[in-house]
This record gives sequence, C-alpha cells and structure tokens, in this order.
Amino acid sequence: MPCKLVAGNWKMNGLRADLDEMRALIAAHPDPDCGMLICPPATLLAPMADLAQGSRLLVGGQDCHTAKSGAHTGDLSADMLADAGARHVILGHSERRADHGEGSDLVAAKARAAQEAGLTAIICVGETEAQRDAGTTLEVVLGQLLESVPDGANAGNTVIAYEPVWAIGTGRTPTLEQIAEVHDALRAAVPDAEMSLLYGGSVKPGNAADIFALANVDGALVGGASLKASDFGAIIAAL
Ligand code: G3H
Repeated sequence: MPCKLVAGNWKMNGLRADLDEMRALIAAHPDPDCGMLICPPATLLAPMADLAQGSRLLVGGQDCHTAKSGAHTGDLSADMLADAGARHVILGHSERRADHGEGSDLVAAKARAAQEAGLTAIICVGETEAQRDAGTTLEVVLGQLLESVPDGANAGNTVIAYEPVWAIGTGRTPTLEQIAEVHDALRAAVPDAEMSLLYGGSVKPGNAADIFALANVDGALVGGASLKASDFGAIIAAL
C-alpha cells in the first residue's frame, strides 16, 4: 500500500511568528493517520524542524541544487536541507518550471541529489490549461514523469504530485473523473507501484474528502490551505 501523505507547501510565505500555526497543528494532530509534512521557506526550515522534534510533523524543502556544495550563490544543497532537519524536498513545482525555466532533466538531476542526501523527492507534474484544452494532458504529464524521475527512484525515496497548473491557487479543481484519469495513468506508469501519488491544486477542507476517496490518490500537496493550522488539519482529518 502506498503511504498516505498530506504535504503543505508554504511557498514564499511565512515569518517566524507563523510558527505558532505549527504549534497549533501539532497540538491538534498528535497522532495523524497519515504523514503530515510542511515545506516552509528555507528561512523557517531549521526552526520548524526544532519545534517539530518529538512530534509527528515532518518538514521539507521547496527546492535543492544538484551539487553538494560550491559556488552557487543563493542556492541550497540537498545535504543542507537534510542538515536543517528536512526529510523531503519538493522538486519541479510548476512555479519553478515557469519562473526559473526548470526542465525535467534538471528536475531529475535534483531528485538524484535528493536521493543521495537521504531525502524523499516530491516530484511535481501537471499540464497547463492550454495543454488540457488541446487534449494533451496525459501526454504532457506522463512525459514529465518519464523525464523527471531518475533511475533508482522507488516508493521509499520518491513521491509524485499531480498538480494541474491551472488549478494552482485559482480555486478551480478538475472534476473527480479528470483527477482519477490522470492518477490511474500515473499509477500504471510509475517505476514502483507503491509510490505515493498526491493531488495538488486548490485542495481545501471542503473538497479533500472527495478527492481522497479516489482509488489512486494517496494524499495531497496543499498550498494556500496549508498556511492555517485549522484548514490544514481539516484536510489531514479527511484522509
Ligand atoms: O504546491 C502546492 C500547490 O501549488 C497547490 O497550491 O493549494 O494554493 O492551489 P494551492
């Protein structure tokens, strides 16, 4: 059985004062039935890992470099994330693919670096609205999967997140049939059938249970609704 996981991506949000939300989350969910992960901005990684000590809350990074160290101003290596307390790292998020021109080859190289550092890579794939309208969703998503997942990826070191670009931060979600179609195709294509498959894109307390009821959905990658302990907790409770 793939592991169940609800992951929160704080993106470029969060100051130290917002760590109080994590204290509230830990207090409300001391023993969740699934993995409970928050990927804060890098500035909050170590303090969040410190406050998560002894709890079930996992913390992760939002990106890493391919190299272990070196002259790469502003970048963070997978080893640095692990050293700060991360267990996971999000890679190939559509915002990085769009804002930083990251292609799937680079995502695969980053995932290899994450594997070597002992991190679980959460590799994101997803189509744009134009690609969905053109009827190429499965082609795009499966192509990204093939090119972004490195050799050696298995259920222990890799999670796949399907995030339709047009559903991110928009309040729009695909129909349950559309989510199921992509997740069923991903299940058939992943190199390890036990690999967890997350859905991401406008997941909220109000729609989480229906999405989680789909056969090949093992959890969620949550953006906006992960910033509030009450919303994120409600999504965890729905899994
Ligand atoms: O990484 C998270 C996703 O981009 C989803 O963001 O829940 O705000 O739509 P959202």
